[in-house]
Amino acid sequence: MHKDIDVSAVLAALTLDEKAALLSGQAAWESAAVERLGIPSITLTDGPHGVRRPDPTAERFSFETSLPATCFPTASALGASWDVDLLTEVGEALGTESRAADVAVLLGPGINIKRSPLCGRNFEYLSEDPVVSGHLGAALVRGVQSKGVAASVKHFAANNQETDRMQISAEVDERTLREIYLAGFEHIVTTASPWTVMAAYNRVNGVHAAHNGWLLSEVLRDQWGFDGLVVSDWGAVSDPVAAVGAGLDLEMPATNGASATKLVEAVKAGLLEENVLDQAVARVLTLLNRTAQAEPADDVDFTAHHALAKRVAVETAVLLKNEGPILPLDPDATTTVAVIGEFARTPRFQGAGSSQVTPTRVDSALDALTETAGKGLRLTFAPGFQLSGDEDETLHAEAVSQAAEADVVLMFLGLPEGEESEGHDREHLDLPDVQLQLLRAVARANPDVVVVLANGGLVEVATWERHAMAVLHGSLNGQAGGGAIADLLFGRANPSGRLTETIPVRLKDTPSYLNFPGADGIVIYGERLYVGYRYYDVKDLRVSYPFGHGLSYTSFAYSDLHATVDGEGDDVVVRLRVTLTNTGPVTGKETVQVYVGDVAASIDRPVRELKAFTKVELSSGSSTQLEFELGARDLSFYSPLHRSWVLEGGEFEVSVGASSRDLRLTTTVKVDAPPLIAPVTWESPVGAWLAHPAGGPLLRRAMDSGEGSAVAADPAILRMVESVPLKTLVTMSGGRLDVTEISRYLDADTHPEGRS
Ligand code: GLC
Repeated sequence: MHKDIDVSAVLAALTLDEKAALLSGQAAWESAAVERLGIPSITLTDGPHGVRRPDPTAERFSFETSLPATCFPTASALGASWDVDLLTEVGEALGTESRAADVAVLLGPGINIKRSPLCGRNFEYLSEDPVVSGHLGAALVRGVQSKGVAASVKHFAANNQETDRMQISAEVDERTLREIYLAGFEHIVTTASPWTVMAAYNRVNGVHAAHNGWLLSEVLRDQWGFDGLVVSDWGAVSDPVAAVGAGLDLEMPATNGASATKLVEAVKAGLLEENVLDQAVARVLTLLNRTAQAEPADDVDFTAHHALAKRVAVETAVLLKNEGPILPLDPDATTTVAVIGEFARTPRFQGAGSSQVTPTRVDSALDALTETAGKGLRLTFAPGFQLSGDEDETLHAEAVSQAAEADVVLMFLGLPEGEESEGHDREHLDLPDVQLQLLRAVARANPDVVVVLANGGLVEVATWERHAMAVLHGSLNGQAGGGAIADLLFGRANPSGRLTETIPVRLKDTPSYLNFPGADGIVIYGERLYVGYRYYDVKDLRVSYPFGHGLSYTSFAYSDLHATVDGEGDDVVVRLRVTLTNTGPVTGKETVQVYVGDVAASIDRPVRELKAFTKVELSSGSSTQLEFELGARDLSFYSPLHRSWVLEGGEFEVSVGASSRDLRLTTTVKVDAPPLIAPVTWESPVGAWLAHPAGGPLLRRAMDSGEGSAVAADPAILRMVESVPLKTLVTMSGGRLDVTEISRYLDADTHPEGRS
């Protein structure tokens, strides 16, 4: 624990060399120290669902040699909980374990939008939707930081693929960036105050995120008010001077002094203002103060954390289908259950790469099923296939034979380790053929099949789900996932997970299919705003399972939706009230989702967008009244023309439901707002000027006063020149268009951004 650093005093005492040295690591996972002034080094380490503290005694670095820590479900599972409070608890546990491991910055959560299901790292991300990503990411940040450990929200921004990730330029229009790829970060920065943000590897519209002044300074700091530190992804800085100038504060990992030397030279050569360097150093020192620990770390109760990991895994499993219903099974029945699939014995519970944790223990579903099963229940097990994917007739035959003799079959399928990882993307959405062949053979021998899935990235289900009466999507559910799955299958827990990523019928239907993963160093986000359900809904495309979908062992009814509108414009508040009733036989949890659609917008907008949600537990037969409040921002879209979010008055359709395609109740509200007036400048077209309340009369007077009157008088000519920028019209008029009044109106000194 170090004493509080007096930032301004230490800044004044630091030499230029020492300042520059503080802006990059001194080792792979350590920041730099300046012993002379009592500035300590701190440790930064992964990751989003468990502390991966490299083992200091290991001879060489590998993702497998980290100190034991609780491996929670990965973000793809955490997202499916839709439970803000639960994720805060996970964050608190991660923060406790970080402190105990003397980690000051935990490198997570990862909140990049799942633009394509092919992204190799989707298991580390929360959703295809920015509201889910933002709200659940903020919960994790609050939890981690409540323990005095800094979170690091990553990867800022538009890091939505692994292919060519250190060079690729994500070419994204500003409205799409703001509404889809930045919105989650914005919500977290403005509501949870992360102490660090991690700049991504990729370029954004041509400029590396780690060197991107628009992203790191204009948006993150000036517009969102971020007061923390920006750390680079490991190795993401290729130009330390440009990076610090753009707003990056800490380059990781160490560069053995090379970056510090460049920074010193740049300051001495007048290429980098020393006060810019000082700002970055001040943020490093502030981070040290924020993470300085007053008290020694508590001992970690790993048993309690394992129990939490199990509770989370229960909350994150998504019951996709349940014909019969075949589930839940009765653990006390006199019956034979065939457990088939290596994943039942060898759980796949996390992804590969920097987030990989050495778990404190791992529960297999097979062991948990065996422990849970009653005396009359006979369990058999057959691996059925090799995780390598190689065919094995014997394994296949043995599994089919056991299925034939059983009353019900539990098949544990999923993506093998190597098929999804940091560092590379996937080529397809298929389960391994060896697994699908086995499923078809087993279903022929016994139709009572339940499939349990273990995959972080999506798999297509349309080609095989008819062979299963039920499908339980466990995602990558952490070290305690096996026990959670057993409890869910035997009805000791009721599934309540909801999809945060649409499961498409086929890869070709996905929004980014034609633009993923790009080529020649560029990936064009051609689908714009229409990511995930936003795309499938605007195209009215059939999907296998929609965003927000998930079944329960009980059922819920929605009634009495009421909406009121108070205020108008930026002060508008739409208040919703709805009653939820558990109409089924057992206690369960429902995630009530609120979607909003702009009935008649002047620009294209998604059919509907998730704007609020809440997860509620209700006992059988009970009801509760839920309230939601939507503000102007929830109804607005981002307008690059206005350089801001804007609310356009009119009717909005508000729906509440159990998924994006299971909308139970809908109402329409009318919202009043001042007319949207796009600011006009010399570059604005004639049509925009003529439509502008102040600019129109000015331009008409200018036109009527000279040769322009011929243009103004002839609608055909006027129509032709509507798209001509005013400055071009002036040039074309050869000075005959008197624009004195317009110049005064647009006086660059007082209205550099034009006049709205
Ligand atoms: C990796 C990842 C990042 C991780 C960092 C440190 O390349 O992109 O998520 O936190 O490097 O391991």
